Amino acid sequence: MQYIVESAPLWRATGDAIIVGIFLSESVEDGLNNVDKALAEGDTSFLEKLATSAREEGFTGKAGQTVILPTYGQTAAKRVILVGLGKQTEFNARVTSKLAANLGRRLSANEHIARVCFCLRDGGTGGAAEQARAFVEGWILGSYSFRKYKTQSKDEKRAEIREIAMKGWSGNEKEFSAACSAGETVGNSTNFARMLIAEPACFMTPSRLAHEAQRIGKEHGMNCTVMDVAEIEKLGMGSFLGVARGAKEPAKFIVLRYEPKNAKKKIAVVGKGITFDSGGLSLKPAVSMEHMKYDMSGAAAVLATMNVVGTLKPNVSVLGVIAATENMPGSNALHPGDVLTAMNGKTIEVNNTDAEGRLVLADALTFSVKEGADELIDIATLTGAIVTALGRCAAGVMGSDQALLERLIKASADGGERLWQMPMFDEYKEALKSDVADLKNAGSRGEAGSSCAAMFLQEFVEGKPWAHLDIAGPGWLDKDRDESNKGGTAFGVRTLCQYILEQGKEESN
Ligand code: BES
Ligand code: MN
Ligand code: ZN
Repeated sequence: MQYIVESAPLWRATGDAIIVGIFLSESVEDGLNNVDKALAEGDTSFLEKLATSAREEGFTGKAGQTVILPTYGQTAAKRVILVGLGKQTEFNARVTSKLAANLGRRLSANEHIARVCFCLRDGGTGGAAEQARAFVEGWILGSYSFRKYKTQSKDEKRAEIREIAMKGWSGNEKEFSAACSAGETVGNSTNFARMLIAEPACFMTPSRLAHEAQRIGKEHGMNCTVMDVAEIEKLGMGSFLGVARGAKEPAKFIVLRYEPKNAKKKIAVVGKGITFDSGGLSLKPAVSMEHMKYDMSGAAAVLATMNVVGTLKPNVSVLGVIAATENMPGSNALHPGDVLTAMNGKTIEVNNTDAEGRLVLADALTFSVKEGADELIDIATLTGAIVTALGRCAAGVMGSDQALLERLIKASADGGERLWQMPMFDEYKEALKSDVADLKNAGSRGEAGSSCAAMFLQEFVEGKPWAHLDIAGPGWLDKDRDESNKGGTAFGVRTLCQYILEQGKEESN
């Protein structure tokens, strides 16, 4: 895609659509005039005609409103699209990203739209660079669709937008293209993660995930290590391997390393890579199993994040770690009641084989500590309980280091996602006491399931600053919603990228 600073007057801006945001507090005329008085130059009454048409469509500038108006040759562009920005005091890059996503989704169904011109607006918080980046990112996210297995898709024409021009940029070109390409990188990488999640489990196996990791490593000159079962055994990952036992598909332990020269800190991002969660012998009922290909969403987020990191090169080391396996009830599967020895030596009674995510993450966290990570962030579709607690509009965040959690919560808000902290009261540890081993893997049904899972993970972080993102809720949607699509959303990519890029900035100062 091309990103261009539009310097022609508005009525001369070529392309298929001019997109102008209008605040709730202003008239359409004022909004357009504010962008460029020259819209009226062709025909002075034209601006009023547009404004009248917009009003007749009920347009007031409320956030989310959109009207598409033809320009009948009065401007070089074929259409003017007015979008409501809501209250000027509440305007920020998030508003821009949402409107771009919704436009991208709608217009990518229109094969005639290949070039749009977006008018940057002053007001609200955040600068023009943030707005430009948000527009590109939102547009790309909203335009996502997964059509690989649709045999009819050739008839259904879909537009590939080729050029986004922006009007109202006054800074230098370099900053402009940096902002746009940051948005493009995060947007495309998120869509890449969505594609990995959308792939059925018969295709997106642990080996396939490993292959994708190697491809990313190669592309950015990052070291990528893929360990097979024999090597995983040597490392003593008894907890991870316990889960892998029931599956015929071979498990893989995947490590990607991004190590810039003078990085002062190493952040580990650890993803749950269950490419299918049947529950194992503690088998899930059919309705709960239906979408369980998305149980590798954490792994997909890690791969996408490593791709962004490799492209944008922040000044902080990032260790991407993925424990990938299916959770299946094969004849060699874990029996409920089996005892496993994790890499850190702790013994675990597996009272429920469906609580497999924490088993694979346990060893992946221990591994990351041994690799010298200063900070651990795991990301996982870990519990149904978090969906019950928060629904699909926020991920749960828990952990041992309040400052880290707060930095992540801030990064999620800046990145356009939402995290909500859940408690880790000491009392929850009681639920994980086993009669035969150091721990058991599942607490009591129906009681603080997400927090108990986090308490379990905490046993494997060796006191390091650690945060756990439970993305089971927003990781899957039944309907499109702003920047998120129906199906696997790749929730967490924007939060992780925002956080790491921010940390990488601080390190260089
Ligand atoms: N992958 C599931 C969690 C999940 C549930 C993700 C629903 C997305 C939607 C996880 O492995 C699991 O099965 N967790 C159990 C834990 C329980 C057995 C302690 C759960 O949440 O029921
Ligand atoms: Mn499970
Ligand atoms: Zn699972």
